[in-house]
Amino acid sequence: MPIDYQDATLATVLRNRRSVRGFTPQAIEPELLRSIFAEAQLSPSNCNTQPWQTYVASGDSCNQLRQGLVEQIMAGTPPKAEFEYFSKFKGQHRTRQVECAEALYGAMGIPREDKRGRMGALVRNYQFFDAPHVAFICMDKEFDIVNGLDIGVYLQTLMLIMEANGVASCAQGALAYFPPLVKEVLGIPEQEGILVGVSFGYEDTQVAANNARTNRAPIEQCVVFKD
Ligand SMILES: Cc1cc2nc3c(=O)[nH]c(=O)nc-3n(C[C@H](O)[C@H](O)[C@H](O)COP(=O)(O)O)c2cc1C
Repeated sequence: MPIDYQDATLATVLRNRRSVRGFTPQAIEPELLRSIFAEAQLSPSNCNTQPWQTYVASGDSCNQLRQGLVEQIMAGTPPKAEFEYFSKFKGQHRTRQVECAEALYGAMGIPREDKRGRMGALVRNYQFFDAPHVAFICMDKEFDIVNGLDIGVYLQTLMLIMEANGVASCAQGALAYFPPLVKEVLGIPEQEGILVGVSFGYEDTQVAANNARTNRAPIEQCVVFKD
């Protein structure tokens, strides 16, 4: 089914997309679900290699993963992603990271010193924020950061297509941390590594976390124009 974008414009889709961390149980109609991922195939990539391998879990598999991942995090299973992740941010990157956390925890009413509250917020990642669907995006373990660029482009393409269809999403690096369970449930081959997950569905506007808003640095900090 070709997607009917109706009156969606690039400007509205780009400006309205944001990370949603609370979903209603309503599943996306199967035809639309398929069309979203078919359309995301239009994403460009280095030499058109299309290195993404995407696994979409709904229904039983989604619930099985939700339960299993929450069990793992509650049991204190050490996280071990398949690709390296640099997380010791400094300077302006650290400042932005802190502001992002403050926006989310502020919206959720969790004070900085509330360790239990913060743990609860972390666990929400593994509950997929109650979403009826979660996608795991993988690439060959042999690939590295440059191939990972293609995955990033694909991820944004996917989230914008979702937004244009009224489907909310949240990209989650956190979903890359417990690969054995995810790979077993979804039948992901050993040679593919999980880079990122995306919870998606329809926004539950009653969830406090969904009041979080992030800002962006002025372009002077990020872009240099030269004549
Ligand atoms: C690759 C990637 C990984 C992310 N991982 C997480 C995550 O694990 N948990 C989470 O709640 N949000 C995660 N996010 C969402 C970011 O926090 C969010 O995109 C950022 O704060 C900007 O906010 P916005 O998406 O609402 O514009 C991730 C986003 C990206 C692009």
